Amino acid sequence: MAEALRVLVLNGPNLNMLGIREPSIYGRDSLGDIEAACKKHARDLNLELDFRQSNLEGELVTWIQQARGTVGGIVINPAAYGHTSIALLDALLITELPVIEVHLSNIFRREDFRHHTYVSQAARGVICGLGAQGYLLALDALATILKAKKDR
Ligand code: DQA
Repeated sequence: MAEALRVLVLNGPNLNMLGIREPSIYGRDSLGDIEAACKKHARDLNLELDFRQSNLEGELVTWIQQARGTVGGIVINPAAYGHTSIALLDALLITELPVIEVHLSNIFRREDFRHHTYVSQAARGVICGLGAQGYLLALDALATILKAKKDR
């Protein structure tokens, strides 16, 4: 089998509280459940996942910088930092990697301040409103992008 392609899956602030946090909006899956589902799906796609969460903007920036040259692409749920962080946007642009942005909830059906995300400007695609399935769809998209790159 071909060597697995490495993908970084990043999760921003408060996503460590999934399962407990506003389940009517974010569902009952914990972040651990989402990680397990992503890892299972990644095996089918021959992707190797590095799955992380931080409540700290600077830590996320550092991890994104380190991704340059070490992984093939990034899936990111920036959580609230998507709406506020030019630093995350800049870091993602520096990587020059394909990025898929994910939000569990449909941010466009919610408060106005959630309708804009800075991170989207660095993203190939944005998936929102499909709950945990959004992560799996993001992995499908990245696998397609990375395999097309490899075959070029
Ligand atoms: C979120 C949406 C954001 O607006 C919010 O701040 C989050 C989670 C989502 O996954 O739906 O923390 O990114």
